[in-house]
Amino acid sequence: MELGELLHKERDYSRDEIIYLLNLKDTRDIHKLYSRAQEITNEYFGNMVYLRGVIEFSNYCSEHCMYCGLREENLILPRYRMTAEEILQTSKNIYNSGIRTIVLQSGQDSFFDTDLVSYLIYSIKRQFDVAITLSLGQRNFEEYKTWKIAGADRYLLKHESANPKLYATYHRKAKLDDRIQHLKYLKRIGFQLGSGNMVGLPLQTVEDIADDILLCRELDVDMAAFGPFIPANNTPYQNKKAGSTELTLKTIAVTRLVMRSSHIPSTTSLDSIDTFGREKGLAAGANVIMPNFTPHPYREKYLVYKNKRGIKFEPSEAHLAIKNRIEAAGKKVAYSKGHSLKMRVTA
Ligand code: 5AD
Repeated sequence: MELGELLHKERDYSRDEIIYLLNLKDTRDIHKLYSRAQEITNEYFGNMVYLRGVIEFSNYCSEHCMYCGLREENLILPRYRMTAEEILQTSKNIYNSGIRTIVLQSGQDSFFDTDLVSYLIYSIKRQFDVAITLSLGQRNFEEYKTWKIAGADRYLLKHESANPKLYATYHRKAKLDDRIQHLKYLKRIGFQLGSGNMVGLPLQTVEDIADDILLCRELDVDMAAFGPFIPANNTPYQNKKAGSTELTLKTIAVTRLVMRSSHIPSTTSLDSIDTFGREKGLAAGANVIMPNFTPHPYREKYLVYKNKRGIKFEPSEAHLAIKNRIEAAGKKVAYSKGHSLKMRVTA
């Protein structure tokens, strides 16, 4: 099939077609892919970019992911937990900036148990008219349900790799199948679901990335997040090569072709390996940016990977810088909750 035809096809993309698109080498072809992805994005979202304010409230983590700087074995990283008061104050800062989604993010930290997280959700919802996304790692089914009832709207849990062998290699033999059961349960009980992977992880092939995209389609995710792998200090992968901007952008663009109306973020990790990472992501099919509102002195300690961009800034400055960059790219910031289009909820 000719490239133009492939980019405009209506029915579902096959695995081979996805692999073919991810393997495009000719610069003009790659740009055709990006511009088709942006065209589809515009059909669904116009030129609006949705913002989600992130609070990284704890960098304690009981997991052992080979790629991640928060892994429990990293004894060099200073650990912190924000207090409930600090988290509520940061939520207020996000609300006052006009942003209407608050993302509560942490390592897998059981100190923030069922009740404490429910208290946070309930307190935020009572004070502010916002959507809440939880990004707390793989917890248990009862907790997910309690948090949904407490008022949380979305759950972000990346599948990280759809290849069971690689998944076990990265996660000390943990099972991909368990992860998928969690994702399906979250969707079933009514969370808007976010998932995704890292591009350029050690041992990963283009075929694996195609399977990551297909898993997002199978799970019918409301947000598909793909950022480059970046080595993190004090981890087994600290000397590995980072993923590339180009392959990440191709992944975003193909995901847009396959998923159509799903949200896709232009991630901080992409912006950390490329001066114009955010802009390039938005020009290749992304429609969401997640500004980091974590206050000092915690901000500089959420070191998932090396050279994370923006950690030295004041949170409010970082948000304004992002807003300026979105507008300079000819787009507009959407100050709304930005619910999934699949939910048919307007806000
Ligand atoms: N590079 C890029 N992203 C990473 N993450 C973890 N470690 C890295 C890394 N080295 C992402 C993972 C995970 C989240 C905590 O951050 O996708 O879901």
